[in-house]
Amino acid sequence: MSYAADPRLYVALDLPSIEEARDMVVRLGEQIVSYKIGLQLLPLGGTQLGAELKAMGKNVFYDFKFHDIDATVEKATRSVARLGGDILTVHARPDVMRAAVKGRGDSDLKVIGVTVLTSLDKQALEEIGYHDSARDLVMRRVRQAVEAGMDGVVCSPLEAGEIRAVVPDEFLIVTPGVRLPGGDAGDQKRIATPFDALESGASHLVVGRPITKAKDPAEGAQAVLANIAGK
Ligand code: C5P
Repeated sequence: MSYAADPRLYVALDLPSIEEARDMVVRLGEQIVSYKIGLQLLPLGGTQLGAELKAMGKNVFYDFKFHDIDATVEKATRSVARLGGDILTVHARPDVMRAAVKGRGDSDLKVIGVTVLTSLDKQALEEIGYHDSARDLVMRRVRQAVEAGMDGVVCSPLEAGEIRAVVPDEFLIVTPGVRLPGGDAGDQKRIATPFDALESGASHLVVGRPITKAKDPAEGAQAVLANIAGK
């Protein structure tokens, strides 16, 4: 049985070249309709690839994680909206988020805030000078994202439930750190299955290596889609 495409599943095209990313899109075919392009490909022509994907009817998430002065974030966000991106990340600092919301204007682009990088633990936060726990910082930034008029946040699937309880229904909760039962976690520490992430309140999933590093990526995608379907 083959499971149909699910637009909530964004496949992270974390590959070394545009050619390899294009090949991956061809291999995954119709079953994947949403892609995330991140920092590895953006300097290599990732936005041109994004425009190609849009022309194919796919959804494109640009993971730029902007963090700069207001005017720059506003103008950079406007550029991504003009490109036709569907989702854009910025760091969830109140000033950055307000600027991104201005730049988005009334375009269809959804701007979402990266709350706290999942690679940062208590010690790493202390080192930066943040004395809140990661959880408290995440929840503070979620409130600030809502106040700034953001469309959503990126967070660990283990935080999705607590966040869903305090945000509007249409607010996007996008979770990386998604793994199939028994799958290789890699460097991800706070993980959940696709099904559990959506059950706990995620609106979208980002899955990279479980699909792109699978022996057969198309089969990897089917396994994730099957899990989403509760199989
Ligand atoms: O390969 P994997 O499924 O771990 O890919 C997860 C994707 O989500 C990567 O592109 C990574 O940069 C991104 N991401 C993450 N954790 C965050 C924010 C983004 O893993 N907190």
